[in-house]
Amino acid sequence: MNAADSAAPVWIPQASAIAREAGARLREFFSAGVETEYKGDVDLVTVADRTVEKLIRTRLAEAFPEHGVYGEEGTRERMEGEFRWYVDPLDGTTNFAHGFPQFCVSMGLEHRPDGARGEDDGTIVAGVIYDPMRDELYTAERGRGAQLNGKPMHVSRIGFLAESLVSTGFPSRKRHDSPNIHFYHEFTLRSHGVRRAGSAALDLAYVACGRLEAFWEFNLNPWDTAAGVLLVEESGGRLSDFAGQPFQLNSREVLASNGLIHDELVALFKDMFAGRDLSPIPTPQEFAQRRAERAAIGR
Ligand code: IPD
Ligand code: CA
Ligand code: CA
Repeated sequence: MNAADSAAPVWIPQASAIAREAGARLREFFSAGVETEYKGDVDLVTVADRTVEKLIRTRLAEAFPEHGVYGEEGTRERMEGEFRWYVDPLDGTTNFAHGFPQFCVSMGLEHRPDGARGEDDGTIVAGVIYDPMRDELYTAERGRGAQLNGKPMHVSRIGFLAESLVSTGFPSRKRHDSPNIHFYHEFTLRSHGVRRAGSAALDLAYVACGRLEAFWEFNLNPWDTAAGVLLVEESGGRLSDFAGQPFQLNSREVLASNGLIHDELVALFKDMFAGRDLSPIPTPQEFAQRRAERAAIGR
C-alpha cells in the first residue's frame, strides 16, 4: 500500500482514537495515584504502564489486525509483518509516579520493505503522541504534514543556538556511563536554556510545534522516538545522530531540531567529542573556596 496515493490519512484517525482512550486511562490512574515498582536502579514502572500497553495492544489488533506491535512493557506481536507499531504507553513514568504532570502516550508506525527481517529498519509512516493533561494530540503521516489538535504545526524559525530553548533527557539505566551532563552544561551556556522535562516523546513533539528549537538524548529506544521523529520531519525540522548522519530507529542517539540550527549543533557535538572549546565548570570545592575568600574580605 502507498499511503501517499490518497488524500485522506490512512492510520491517524483510528490511532488517534486509541491514543485518546489510552490517555484517558492514564489520567484516571494519575488522579487515583499508583504504586511504583522498580525495573532497575531508578527505572520505574507502574500498573498504569502495563494496563495501558495492554489496552493499546488490544485496540491496535482490532483496528489493524495485520500490524505488528512492539511495546516498551514487553509486547512483541507479529514482528515479521509489513507494518509495526512502536508503542510507549506512558512516556514520562518518573514524572507520572511523582504526580508531575508531564507525560504522554506515543505510537509510531513503521513500514518495512518486503523480505525485511525482524531487526531491519523500515520507514516511519505515521506517528501519534497524546498529552492527556493538556489534551494535546500531535499527529503526522509521512508526506502529509503534522498537526496539533488537527491544525497544521511547524518548527520554529529561530536561526541561532544562542537564541534557542532546547531540551534533553538522562537515562534511568547505566546512569554512571552517561556523559550528558557535560552537554547539558555547554548547551546551557550557549542557549537561552536547557529543559529536562522528563518525556522524550513530548520533547520531540515540542520541537515539532515550535516550543523548542532542539532536543538531544543518548540511549533512547525506538518506542521513545518513533512517533516524535516523524512529527519533527513533517513539521519541517531535521533529525540525525550526533555526527549528522541520518537518524535510525535503533541508532540510540537522537538530535532533532528546527533544521535552521542543525549544522551548528552537529558542529558543537563534533567539538565536544574532540574536547575542543569546552567551558570549565567550577568544582564545588573551588566555588566554596571563592565564597570563603569573598566572605573574608566582606563581599
Ligand atoms: C523516559 C523518558 C525520559 C527520558 C528517558 C526515557 P519512560 O521514558 O522519555 O524523558 O530521559 O531516557 O527512558 O521510561 O518514562 O518511558
Ligand atoms: Ca519512554
Ligand atoms: Ca514508558
